[in-house]
Amino acid sequence: MTATATGAWLPVYAQFPLRVVSGAGSYLVDDRGERWLDAYGGHAVASTGHCHPDVVAAIREQAGKLIFYSTAIPHGGREELAELIAANCPDPLGKVFFCNSGAEANENALSLARKVTGRQRIVSVAGGWHGRTAATLAVTDGAKYEETARRSGISISTKVPFNDVQAIAAAIDETVAGVIVEPVQGLTGARDCSPEFLRAARLACDREGAVLIFDEIQCGVGRCGAFSAAEAFEVIPDILTFAKGLASGLPIGAMVATGAVTASLKIGDLGSTFGGGPVVSAAAIATIKVILKERLIDNAVMVGDHLRRAAAKLPGVADVQGRGLLIGLRLAKPAAEVQRALFESRILTGTSSEPTVLRLMPPLSFSRSEANTLIDALRRVLS
Ligand SMILES: Cc1ncc(COP(=O)(O)O)c(C=O)c1O
Repeated sequence: MTATATGAWLPVYAQFPLRVVSGAGSYLVDDRGERWLDAYGGHAVASTGHCHPDVVAAIREQAGKLIFYSTAIPHGGREELAELIAANCPDPLGKVFFCNSGAEANENALSLARKVTGRQRIVSVAGGWHGRTAATLAVTDGAKYEETARRSGISISTKVPFNDVQAIAAAIDETVAGVIVEPVQGLTGARDCSPEFLRAARLACDREGAVLIFDEIQCGVGRCGAFSAAEAFEVIPDILTFAKGLASGLPIGAMVATGAVTASLKIGDLGSTFGGGPVVSAAAIATIKVILKERLIDNAVMVGDHLRRAAAKLPGVADVQGRGLLIGLRLAKPAAEVQRALFESRILTGTSSEPTVLRLMPPLSFSRSEANTLIDALRRVLS
């Protein structure tokens, strides 16, 4: 699926061989005027669909007033957004720090865990993916990522096997600063943690005084059954991180933490020039309001269940994993082959680090009839 990149832009990404010019809802339009059904969601970013009118209007209105001023001056949008996020996260997660990406949010979370505990070691989970900065690569699973972190001199996390309750309980001791876990892993193809596994992590962190971090960059913001995966799984971390879908496509990262872990922070301890700027805050406020007003979390659950049930009956689907609208289909043949065949039908989907798992992460507004279009195409491709 790799388009040939030429010119000055570094070709470090595998790309869909497609040039898009516009989008609306679950559809993109290419440079020949053809419509494409987007079950990939711009990598789980298009939470409210492409170019939701409320989000577009909020961006336009704010850009006309003030595009940006740094955190050196208070701004109502930043404050309102923090309140809105806190109100939609379970107590006691009530303190919000804004930055610009998922990796940056995780970087700050890991750093805060180390600061409050005075310890170094991090425990993470096999298959976990947490970003491309040195500290986040050090907790991401995979030799090539760990190697990059090692080159930067960062110590590598202890990885525990996925969903192994005893292993996570045993790995967390008095030397551990923090534990970072995606409640639903994205890269491995929407593998959902068991609630027992997350509860075991919570208990062991409490026992040893370590900080529990949920990386909700892909699975949060309404994608998996509640605004936060923490609420969906009924396990409350000390810190959670959001990014991707939070501003419907404008770059944002948010670290949401308890008062207990942020109590010692002073002015200057964290920082970001762009974090929570006026335009991105307006986009994120509009995004959350659309998610609430249009009941997109309920929609993600309903359409996700429908997709899962229908997909499970298809020939060549061995297993269905994930929650809400973060879904992995374990297939009898390579996912890349199926992705290519769906592409021929003008449908975008994702692959994963598991060669036979196809990943679906459409907008939270994905309709039942759009889900049926996808299922019909999958049936043709898999038969
Ligand atoms: C679970 C998870 N964590 C962190 C990241 C990194 O986010 P970003 O690319 O915004 O830095 C990603 C990106 O795919 C992700 O899926």
